[in-house]
Amino acid sequence: MGITDELQQLRQRGVEAISAAPDLASLDAVRVEYLGKKGSLTAILRGLGGLSAEERPLVGRVSNEVRVALEEALAVRQADLAASALEARIGAETIDVTLPGRAHPVGSRHLIEQIRTEVIDIFLGLGYKIAEGPEVELDYYNFTALNTPPDHPARSLQDTFYVRDLSGEQADIEGESDVLLRTHTSPVQVRVMEKSEPPIYVLAPGKVYRRDIADPSHLPQFTQIEGLVVDEGITFGDLKGTLDHVCKAIFGPDRRTRFRPHFFPFTEPSAEVDVSCGICDGKGCRFCKGSGWLEILGCGMVDPNVFGYAGIDPERYSGFAFGMGVERIAALKYNIPDLRMLLEGDMRFLRQF
Ligand code: PHE
Repeated sequence: MGITDELQQLRQRGVEAISAAPDLASLDAVRVEYLGKKGSLTAILRGLGGLSAEERPLVGRVSNEVRVALEEALAVRQADLAASALEARIGAETIDVTLPGRAHPVGSRHLIEQIRTEVIDIFLGLGYKIAEGPEVELDYYNFTALNTPPDHPARSLQDTFYVRDLSGEQADIEGESDVLLRTHTSPVQVRVMEKSEPPIYVLAPGKVYRRDIADPSHLPQFTQIEGLVVDEGITFGDLKGTLDHVCKAIFGPDRRTRFRPHFFPFTEPSAEVDVSCGICDGKGCRFCKGSGWLEILGCGMVDPNVFGYAGIDPERYSGFAFGMGVERIAALKYNIPDLRMLLEGDMRFLRQF
């Protein structure tokens, strides 16, 4: 086989290899194989020197044609491959602008927090200041200074969570201890009176704890809002007027309130305040257990004994106090049949408020 036939075959193989190259990298390998420094065509061109003077021009021309043909084929194939590579990339990177966007749900304040703030705002409007006390409280403030002697049933283990240091001296002590989880916000009354001089107009919202099993009307942890007023000439009429105003502000002018005589160790006289049932409007139903009324707070005139513990002169000053349950207010305002719903975090329930 003559050298020009060899060249034609090389061209044909080269063109086939070029059009068969699946991607730019293999195309470049083909280019090196044929046209590179150690490539097949280069090898033939190197051998031109050994040819006779007659043969040389023909072989030279043919090899030049083969080189040009291969270079052209390479250029065409390269353009094709580059175009399809770009197309593939564009295809893969396509953004579907019709997809719905990612929603960022906006939260809202929990109903308990809403009511807490609402009540605080009402009292701030009346000129009250906010006070705070610890949730882990001393027996002294939770009971003793509130005129609740050591044998009082409210201290019983059935009602109170006592706190003991199990690594220390108290490890062996059974039952009551000096430290407990406050069962009401009333200890803040004593702490405020110890520290300040009348006139005192304070509101003390906070968490309280009782050894109750959670059921539709009880929670082992709930929120109270305590109020305390100490000034010269404060009467039960001031207490009634204040709470009446507050109840109407919370529940609206259509709900009625009533004061019922009651007993608390730290107030005398004492009362409980009921609001008319929002479900039956006072006629009596299952929600209000047939009475038409729902209890929302305890209150009374500060017992002089409590003034004694807190260092306030009962001859000069008098005062009233009250404590209301935030979860109860929420339940009564929105007719929530089970207090546990407030703590379950079910969005279908919470979204309603
Ligand atoms: N501390 C009482 C309770 O938890 C409520 C109360 C507060 C009553 C202040 C009278 C005065 O039931």
